Amino acid sequence: MVRRLCCRSEELFAGIILLTSFINAAYLQIPGEYVLTLDHSNFTQAVSDHNFLVLQFYAPCENLTKLLCKFVEELEPEYEKAAWVLSTHESPIVMAKIDGSAQENKEISREIFKFEMISYPTIVILQNGGRDFHYYAGPRDADGLVTTLERLISPPSIEIKTASEALTLIDDEKISIVGIFPTFSGEEFENFTAIANQVLWDYWDYDFFHTSDASLIPRDESSSLTTKPALRLLKPFDELFVDSQNFHVRDMENFIIEASIPLEGKLKPFYKSQPIPETNDEPLKVVVGDSLQDMVLNSKKNVLLDIDYPSCSGIGFRKFAPFIPELAVLYENDDDIVIARLDITTNDIPREMFDIMDCHTLYLKAANGALLSYNGDQTKEDIIKFINKNRQSLNENSMPDIPLMTDTGSPHARFMS
Ligand SMILES: *[C@@H]1O[C@H](CO)[C@@H](O)[C@H](O)[C@H]1NC(C)=O
Ligand SMILES: *[C@@H]1O[C@H](CO)[C@@H](O)[C@H](O)[C@H]1NC(C)=O
Ligand SMILES: *[C@@H]1O[C@H](CO)[C@@H](O)[C@H](O)[C@H]1NC(C)=O
Repeated sequence: MVRRLCCRSEELFAGIILLTSFINAAYLQIPGEYVLTLDHSNFTQAVSDHNFLVLQFYAPCENLTKLLCKFVEELEPEYEKAAWVLSTHESPIVMAKIDGSAQENKEISREIFKFEMISYPTIVILQNGGRDFHYYAGPRDADGLVTTLERLISPPSIEIKTASEALTLIDDEKISIVGIFPTFSGEEFENFTAIANQVLWDYWDYDFFHTSDASLIPRDESSSLTTKPALRLLKPFDELFVDSQNFHVRDMENFIIEASIPLEGKLKPFYKSQPIPETNDEPLKVVVGDSLQDMVLNSKKNVLLDIDYPSCSGIGFRKFAPFIPELAVLYENDDDIVIARLDITTNDIPREMFDIMDCHTLYLKAANGALLSYNGDQTKEDIIKFINKNRQSLNENSMPDIPLMTDTGSPHARFMS
C-alpha cells in the first residue's frame, strides 16, 4: 500500500494549479529590479563589480524618432524578462541599462564608443573591468538574449570525450565545427581556439568542439581524418560535412564562412527576378533583379544595398540582419541616402559586379556611381561611419537631415571618430 505522504490527488492537483499560476503571474509581472539602472555616478563601480556586464544604451522616447522609439520599447520587456530568467539560473551575467541621451551620461558613451552615440537601443558587453568591449549583435527577444548571452560566457569550444557526448552535444540542425588534435596544445590548437572565440563573438550561434579521437565525430564513414590536426565542419544541408587541415587563422574563418552558405545560392543557371513590388514605401526599400538597374546602379543617390540570403537565418549567419532596418529608419529623412535589401535566393544580380561573400553582403553605390563593398565590423556604428565617409553629396547645399539625437554640432561632425 502506498503511504499517504501529504495529500489526496485533488489537493495535490489544486496545489500544482496554484503554483503554476503563481509562476505565470511572476513571469508576466517581472519586477524591474533585475536590470540595473546606471548613470554617471555609479557606472564605473558597476563595471568593476561585474565581470560580464551587459549594458543597454537607451533613450526616452521624447528624444527619439517614432520608429527608433518603437525599437527601444520593443526591447524593454524582453530585456527585463531575460534579466529575470538569468537570475533564476544564478548566472554571473548582469544586465544593466543607461540613458545615453542624458547630458550627464554623455561622457560614458564617448568613452565607450569613441564617438557620440547615434542610435538606440545599442547593447554592449563589458568584461574585465571594461577592458574588453564587444557589441552585442544577437537576437533581442528574451529567449534569444538568454541563450546567446549564456553561449557568449561559456568556453568557445567544448571537449568531446565520449561517443555519447558527441551524440548529445552536437546539434544536427546547426553548423558545428570540430577540431581534431592529438594534444590540446601547439599552434594549430591555439589558432583554433582563437578562431572559435572570434566567430563566437561575431556570429554567436556556431558550436565549436575539440576532441583527440577522430572516430567520435559523426559522418566519418571514410575515416579520412587521421591523427594529424584537422577540422570538420558539420552542416544540416548540401554535402553535410567539409574537412580542412589549414589552421591559418584567416583561412579558417574563410573556410567556415564559405562552407556555411547553402550551395543553391552559389550556382545559378538561369536569370531570375521577383516581380517589382507595387508599393515600396517602408524605410527599407526592396530591390529585385529587375529593379537593380533603376534603383541602385543608375540611381542618383547613395544606396546601401544589403544582399541577403534569407535561408541563412536558420543556420547562424544573421550578421547584419537586425541592423539594416534600423539603419533605414535612421536615414529615412536623408534625401541622399537609400537603404535597400535584395533577396539573392530569388533575384539574380551581375556576379562580376558583386562579390557575394556572406549571408549578408553590403555594398554602397555612391551617388557618383562608385561601387564599394563593405568589409568593416558588423556593427551599426561602423556601417554608419562607412556610409558617411563614402557618401557623395548630390547638392553642395543639401544638408543631410538625419534624425539623430541632437545636442551639438552638425550630423557630419558627430560621425567623426
Ligand atoms: C545609480 O544611481 C542612480 C541615481 O543617481 C540610481 O537611480 C540607480 O539606482 C543607481 N544604480 C545602481 C545600480 O546603484
Ligand atoms: C532628452 O529628453 C530629456 C527629457 O525630455 C531632456 O531633458 C534632454 O535634454 C533630452 N536630451 C537630448 C539630447 O535631447
Ligand atoms: C596560425 O595562424 C597564424 C596567423 O594566420 C599563421 O601565421 C600560422 O602559420 C598558423 N599556424 C598553423 C600551424 O597553421
